Amino acid sequence: MNFTIQSNLHVAIIMDGNGRWATGRGLPRIAGHPAGAEALRRIVEAAPGCNIGTLTVYTFSSDNWTRPQYEVDALMSLLGCYLARETPRCLASDVRMTVIGRRDRLPESLCLAIENAERTTSGGRILELRLAIDYSARDAILNASARTSGDGVTRERFAALLGESRPVDVLIRTGGEQRLSDFLLWECAYAELIFSKTMWPDFSPADLRRALDQYSHRERRFGGIPLPPPANAKGHWLR
Ligand code: IPE
Ligand code: IPE
Ligand code: MG
Repeated sequence: MNFTIQSNLHVAIIMDGNGRWATGRGLPRIAGHPAGAEALRRIVEAAPGCNIGTLTVYTFSSDNWTRPQYEVDALMSLLGCYLARETPRCLASDVRMTVIGRRDRLPESLCLAIENAERTTSGGRILELRLAIDYSARDAILNASARTSGDGVTRERFAALLGESRPVDVLIRTGGEQRLSDFLLWECAYAELIFSKTMWPDFSPADLRRALDQYSHRERRFGGIPLPPPANAKGHWLR
């Protein structure tokens, strides 16, 4: 595969399709979530080898509170288990874990697990893994707007208020849907979008490498014009 190494990418993933993965196997929907957590562990392991410096993953949207209580409870408890289990692994593999989103509606035990994960892994240098929990991009933008002083607001200052670590280079959504579902709306202004039909629990490191290979063939122009073509035989630029 013609895989061009990109330096230090910010990849964001909408990990969708856990419920359909489970029901497609005759299992209850919530059986898909632990399988999704396993897929995430494999992707995190593979990320540094794919030259990913920042990986932001959508684990629970602010609109996911509208799901049946038993599914919300299962997700909250799974997130707590994920953090408890992955914190020592992240520490050992030099990965920094941070969490974005609201914390005031999360169970206290989950908040403590988040604080512990962030504190324990704060020295991680090889990869920043950002988990979006109770996250809504629209709410994040509203909150940042409320904290602007009015005049002198620049894109850079607003991005800092928003807690943007850096713009997203590639946004991957699994599960076949082609929408953003209120994820990183500001940060994805010029992200390359890649949609995969694979349900998240089946998404493998090989799928990640394929997605990044697709990305490496995209031409990012940021509103400009394509780079000039190579010089012709006489050494003049063709226009
Ligand atoms: C994504 O999978 C995980 C969360 C939203 C928490 P879903 O649970 O949305 O799975 P589908 O889309 O219903 O298959
Ligand atoms: C987005 O998936 C949220 C997560 C993956 C955590 P959803 O399944 O909630 O999105 P919609 O409802 O299909 O847009
Ligand atoms: Mg879904």
